Amino acid sequence: MSGFSASWLALREPADRTARNAGLLDQLAGALAGRESLAIIDLGTGSGANVRALAPLLPGPQNWLLVDNDPLLLASAQGSAGMLRDRDGRPLAVRTVLHDLAQPGWQDALAAADLVTMSALLDLVSTDFIVRLARAAKGAAIHAALTVDGRMACLPDDPLDEAVFAAFRHHMQGDKGFGPSLGTNAAEAAVRHFEAGGYEVTLAPADWRVGDDQPELRAALLESWVEAVRETRLIDEADLLRWARRREVEAAGDSLEVRVGHVDLLALPR
Ligand SMILES: C[S@@+](CC[C@H](N)C(=O)[O-])C[C@H]1O[C@@H](n2cnc3c(N)ncnc32)[C@H](O)[C@@H]1O
Repeated sequence: MSGFSASWLALREPADRTARNAGLLDQLAGALAGRESLAIIDLGTGSGANVRALAPLLPGPQNWLLVDNDPLLLASAQGSAGMLRDRDGRPLAVRTVLHDLAQPGWQDALAAADLVTMSALLDLVSTDFIVRLARAAKGAAIHAALTVDGRMACLPDDPLDEAVFAAFRHHMQGDKGFGPSLGTNAAEAAVRHFEAGGYEVTLAPADWRVGDDQPELRAALLESWVEAVRETRLIDEADLLRWARRREVEAAGDSLEVRVGHVDLLALPR
C-alpha cells in the first residue's frame, strides 16, 4: 500500500484537471496521431485520474496498462477506465499490474509502449527511477503531468510563509519509497536525463489555484503542509500552530487562496 487515499485523489482530481497544460496535451495527441493503435502505460495510476484525463483526448484504439502498488486503487482505476471512450468513441482495452515501482521489473513492458505517462508521481521518485525510465522507454513518448516544482504561495501572505514553504520543500525530498525523492527538483532532473537519452523535452506550467470554490481541498492541503512541516522540526511548534490558525481563520472567512506550482512534461524521441 502506498498511503495515498482514494478520498485525497478524488479531492485533487478536479484541480488537476483544470491545471493540466492543454497545449502540451494537444502536442501529445498530435505526436501520437496516425498510428494503428496505441500501447499506453500509466505509472502510479492510483484511482485512474490520468487515464480519465488523457483517454478521451487521444486517438484509438488504446491499450492501457495501469501500474500501481495499491490493489484497491488499481481495482477502482480499472473499473472507471472500463467505462471510458477514446477520442473516436471506442472503448479502451485495460490491464492492470500490481507492482512496486521501486523494484526492478516494471521497465520490461516499456519497450513496446507508444506512450509512458504518469501524473503526480515524478516528485516522489529518485534519480535512479528517472534514469531507468529514460533508458527503457526508448522510442515511446513520455508524459509526466503535475510534478510539484516548489513554487508555493498563500494569498494574503504571512510573515511565516517562507519558512513554512521551505520546510515543506525540504520534506518533499524525504524517502517516499524510492530512496531520497527528487521532490521539487524532479522536473529539472527529468529534463536532463531525458535529453541525454535522445528526447526533445518540453515543460509547461500546470499550477493549482485553490480558493473558496474548493474549500475541502484547501483545508486538506493546509493540513498536509502542517503535518509535513511538523515532521521536519524546522519550525517551532507554537509558531506553526499560530500560522495554521491564522490560515484557518482566513479560510473560514473565504479570503484565502493557496497556490501550488506544478509542471507538465512531454518528452518526444528526437
Ligand atoms: C499522488 S498519487 C497519483 C495517482 C494518480 N496518478 C493521480 O494523478 O491521481 C501517487 C500514486 O503513485 C503510487 N505509488 C507510490 N509509490 C509507488 C510505488 N513504489 N510503486 C507503485 N506505485 C506507487 C501510489 O499508490 C499512488 O497511486
